[in-house]
Amino acid sequence: MAQITELLNPKHRKKEFSCGKDILDSYLHHQANQDIKRKLSVCFVLSDSDNRTIKGYYTLSNSSITQEIIPSKYRKKLPGSYTSIPVTLLGRLAIEKNYQRKGIGRVLLVDALVRCCEISKTIGPFAVIVDPLDTAAENYYEKFGFVKLPDSGKMFIPMTTIRGLFE
Ligand SMILES: CC(C)(COP(=O)(O)OP(=O)(O)OC[C@H]1O[C@@H](n2cnc3c(N)ncnc32)[C@H](O)[C@@H]1OP(=O)(O)O)[C@@H](O)C(=O)NCCC(=O)NCCS
Repeated sequence: MAQITELLNPKHRKKEFSCGKDILDSYLHHQANQDIKRKLSVCFVLSDSDNRTIKGYYTLSNSSITQEIIPSKYRKKLPGSYTSIPVTLLGRLAIEKNYQRKGIGRVLLVDALVRCCEISKTIGPFAVIVDPLDTAAENYYEKFGFVKLPDSGKMFIPMTTIRGLFE
């Protein structure tokens, strides 16, 4: 599946982006470039036909979770001695207010998961995790098959499930 996003770069008008959640707007305005420079995470952007107006963005980074919080049905084949399990964190996903509820969130989420699937072929994270901001975001991710991880506020989807969807 072709990727439709590109890495955030100087031509993008990030200051104009507003999704209705200050923390996600502020991240794009002030922090995303810093994190990219410091190699902490990457930020992919979907832009309008002018190639400058940002319709939505998401971030990806490496992360890990403790094995004990993974629901038992997903950890049957994991070696018990591995306490920390590598995952890819889809840390933020946000759509510009004017473009919400038009299917773009779905398109960006699929784009992110396809990318994660590709990554998994070379560095092997076990799952993709998200860190929903609130119950609305939780409900959103649940629609796409993400499962809650106990006591962490995070949700995950195993890479094998993602591969089954796209390969
Ligand atoms: C949440 C968000 C990413 C959804 O993107 P979007 O482009 O508006 O959503 P889509 O049009 O792709 O919707 C896809 C499906 O999810 C549903 N949906 C959208 N927002 C939802 C929500 N908050 N809760 C539950 N379902 C939701 C839509 O109705 C649609 O369902 P359908 O296919 O059955 O009609 C976007 O509204 C947003 O950026 N919100 C502010 C930031 C935020 O909360 N991000 C969440 C990650 S922390």
